This record gives sequence, C-alpha cells and structure tokens, in this order.
Amino acid sequence: MRFSVAQKLPAFAALALASPITHQPQPAFESHSLFVRQDIQTPINGSLPNVTIFATGGTIASQGSSNTQTVGYQVGLGVQQLVDAVPEILNISNIAGYQISNVDSGSVNQTILLKLAHQINAELAKDDISGVVVTHGTDTLEETAFFLQLAVNSSKPVVVVGAMRPATALSADGPLNLLQAVTLAVSENAKDRGTMITLNDRIGSAFYTTKNNANSLDTFFSTEAGQLGFFINQVPYFYFAPSVPIGATHFDLTNTTSLAQVDILYVHQDVDPALFNASYAAGAEGIVFAGVGAGGISATASEAAEGLFNATGIPIVASRRSVDGFVPSADESFSIAAGFYNPQKARVLLQLALTMGYEYDEIKDLFAQSYPKP
Ligand SMILES: *[C@@H]1O[C@H](CO)[C@@H](O)[C@H](O)[C@H]1NC(C)=O
Ligand SMILES: *[C@@H]1O[C@H](CO)[C@@H](O)[C@H](O)[C@H]1NC(C)=O
Ligand SMILES: *[C@@H]1O[C@H](CO)[C@@H](O)[C@H](O)[C@H]1NC(C)=O
Ligand SMILES: *[C@@H]1O[C@H](CO)[C@@H](O)[C@H](O)[C@H]1NC(C)=O
Ligand SMILES: *[C@@H]1O[C@H](CO)[C@@H](O)[C@H](O)[C@H]1NC(C)=O
Ligand SMILES: *[C@@H]1O[C@H](CO)[C@@H](O)[C@H](O)[C@H]1NC(C)=O
Ligand SMILES: *[C@@H]1O[C@H](CO)[C@@H](O)[C@H](O)[C@H]1NC(C)=O
Ligand SMILES: *[C@@H]1O[C@H](CO)[C@@H](O)[C@H](O)[C@H]1NC(C)=O
Repeated sequence: MRFSVAQKLPAFAALALASPITHQPQPAFESHSLFVRQDIQTPINGSLPNVTIFATGGTIASQGSSNTQTVGYQVGLGVQQLVDAVPEILNISNIAGYQISNVDSGSVNQTILLKLAHQINAELAKDDISGVVVTHGTDTLEETAFFLQLAVNSSKPVVVVGAMRPATALSADGPLNLLQAVTLAVSENAKDRGTMITLNDRIGSAFYTTKNNANSLDTFFSTEAGQLGFFINQVPYFYFAPSVPIGATHFDLTNTTSLAQVDILYVHQDVDPALFNASYAAGAEGIVFAGVGAGGISATASEAAEGLFNATGIPIVASRRSVDGFVPSADESFSIAAGFYNPQKARVLLQLALTMGYEYDEIKDLFAQSYPKP
C-alpha cells in the first residue's frame, strides 16, 4: 500500500506540540494488514539505497498523555508515523515498511520472532535492498537482536533500534535513533557485522550488548566486549574492521514454525530446588539458570538439577546473574557452561539449538566454541 502525502499522519513533532494531548488509542492492527509491504515514499528515488523497516512496537512507537510522561504510556504508532517524524530519512533512502506487530517488547513471542526472521531473510535476498531496520521495545530488544543474529545469514546490515522515551516526550530519543539506524543500514562500513543494536549514538553487536538501566537513555552497551562504533554528527564511525565474535553461528530457520521451550531460573539464597522439576513438568525442553557468581547454585538446588538431568537428559545451562562475566567449564557434570552469554542470550542459543534438533554433545560444543580455549 502506498501513502500519499495527504494521507500521512501527524509527525512526532506535531504530537509533541499539541497541548494538551488527549490520548487517542490507536486502532489495533488488523491481521490482514500485517506483512503488507508499505512503500513509505512516493515516488521512489532510484539513486537512493532501499531500506525496509520492520516495526514491532515498543516505546519508540508509543505516546504518553503529556510531554513529561515517560512511564505508563501506550504503544500504538505505526511504521508510517515513525517515518513521518523523521523526514530526513527519505533523503538518504527509500523506505518500505512491514508492521510485524505493535506490542511492548515484553509481549514479543516466538510467533513474532519467526515472522521477523522469515521476512528479513526474504527481504535481504533482494538485490535492491541495502539493509533492514527493526524497531522494537527496549526491554527484550537484546533477545530479538541476538535471535536475528543467529537466524539471518547476510552480509547486509540488520539494525535493531528502540527508544527510551515515548514519541510525545520532551527530548524524545526515537526520531534520532531511527535516523541513525537507517543511516547504519545503508552504510558500506556496516556490512559483515551481523545484527547491530543502535541507541543513544552507540553501535553495538547483538552478541554482548545488553540493557543496563531500566529507565535512563544511556542503557545499551557492553562493558567487557565494548562497542562496535559511535555516531558523530549522524555519521557512523567504527572502532574495528568487520569481524564476528568467536563461535558465531547461523541456523537456517526456513522451515521452522515453532521454537523449543526453554526457561530461565533465577538462583538466590534459599532457591527452591523444586523449580527445576516444575519447569520440566511445565514443558521446558531445556533450562538456563542465572547462577550466583560464575554460574553457582546451592547444594540442594544442584542436587535437584542433577536429579532432573539424570532422569531426563535435558540440557541445563549455567549462566550468571551478574550483569557481566564468564561462566567457565561447569564443575557439575549436569550443566553446560554459558561462557560469556547472559541468561537471556544463552536461552536464545539453547532454544535454537534444540529447535534444530542438536544432540546434547552438540549443544555443549556450541556453547564451548563461543570462548577461546587456553
Ligand atoms: C534522488 O537522490 C539523489 C541522491 O541523494 C539526489 O541528488 C536527487 O536530488 C534525488 N532526486 C529527487 C527527485 O529527489
Ligand atoms: C532502490 O530500488 C529501486 C527500485 O527497485 C532501484 O531502481 C534502485 O536501484 C534501488 N537502489 C539501490 C541502491 O539498490
Ligand atoms: C532533503 O534534501 C533536500 C535537497 O538537499 C533539502 O532541500 C531538504 O531540506 C532535505 N530534507 C530534509 C528533511 O532534510
Ligand atoms: C504472539 O503474539 C501475537 C500478537 O500478540 C499473537 O497473535 C500470537 O498468537 C502470539 N503467539 C504465541 C505463540 O503466543
Ligand atoms: C551462511 O552463508 C554462508 C555464505 O553465503 C554460507 O556459506 C553458509 O552455509 C550459510 N549458513 C547457513 C546456516 O545457511
Ligand atoms: C525446507 O523445506 C523444503 C521443502 O520441503 C526443502 O527443500 C528444504 O531443503 C528445507 N530446508 C531446510 C533448511 O530444512
Ligand atoms: C525430579 O523429577 C525426576 C523425574 O522426572 C525424579 O527422578 C526426581 O526425584 C525429581 N526430583 C525432585 C527433587 O523432586
Ligand atoms: C546422577 O548420576 C550420576 C552419574 O550416574 C551420579 O553420580 C549422581 O549421584 C546422580 N545424581 C542424582 C541426584 O541422582
């Protein structure tokens, strides 16, 4: 569907200026409108690169009831409105959009992930597409980005972007983040770097970038592995030549319609040992635990986990609840060490390995290959 200028909806700037703002709930996206490719600009400028935006929802697509409201706002802006807020984007690219979902990122699920993976692979296979951008809520953005890192096999840039402030807020960060994401998607220097996350001027790899603060703008970074690059005056500068993290792998999800169930258990003092069996009983095909320190767990919980492993053989991966760090080769024979992966990324990797039918030893190797041996 093409949009004429007259049909365009108010830009973020207009929303922010309207005072007082009466919140108008946006109509829910009807299922038949999903996956209809929308050409945002007419006519197409043949000398510009083409970028496809996959919109999933999140704060970047949200409106508050006032320009000072930064929590408790409503998701609802569509892909057209995101682009309308940043007309500069149309000077550097032709944009087409897919509205994949319009939810907060806590509600992103495997249906949405698989649709994203399938559509993005199809889009990047087209010669005239330079790269793709995914707009997403920030809370689980790193999970979707890492999932796409594993599920999309292309040298073209895949950029996942969000915002910490709704579109209606003073100093909303969404429009500049989106401009930078599209800039990255058309940048020659951004090729062969896998899936990237960009917010607040930083460019990070999907591998180790994590959300560090629940509220502040300066939240996405990786302390130990560092950043890939930085925006200066809307130009992406990279610290390193293109490279992939050790152990990088791809899964071909062409025919995949559902993902294996993997739970994350959080370890703490007096952790209930019954959680392991409860998780299995609820359908988990694998478990990741966020251990204390470098993958630690109490003696009673360890025995329960070992008992479950002995009885079922399901993979149990030891990660850490500390924000950063490394879980080395597990002492316990029943667990697989997550290496550098935090629990949510370890879960994505385990989920895809199980979905693709990996045997236990292959899963063990998959995690072990993500860190260098001495
Ligand atoms: C198309 O894009 C090129 C490159 O940015 C620009 O020079 C040209 O003016 C654009 N053409 C139109 C019709 O906007
Ligand atoms: C963008 O798409 C148009 C229409 O398919 C095409 O003519 C043009 O070559 C594409 N631009 C690039 C840089 O591939
Ligand atoms: C797009 O580029 C044209 C030509 O350089 C310029 O006149 C116009 O202001 C630009 N638009 C935006 C929104 O940057
Ligand atoms: C995922 O969320 C979408 C949109 O809310 C919904 O249509 C779909 O049924 C959900 N899938 C699962 C497996 O829960
Ligand atoms: C990824 O792409 C490379 C190069 O095109 C190819 O050699 C490799 O087999 C692909 N991997 C998967 C899992 O499709
Ligand atoms: C997907 O299914 C098609 C048709 O059955 C088959 O030809 C293809 O090899 C399958 N691809 C993968 C990666 O399983
Ligand atoms: C967990 O379940 C297994 C069988 O699935 C059983 O052998 C084991 O005793 C159970 N452990 C606990 C702590 O209940
Ligand atoms: C699990 O199996 C190992 C190896 O057979 C055994 O040494 C261990 O005692 C078993 N643990 C539990 C809790 O059943």
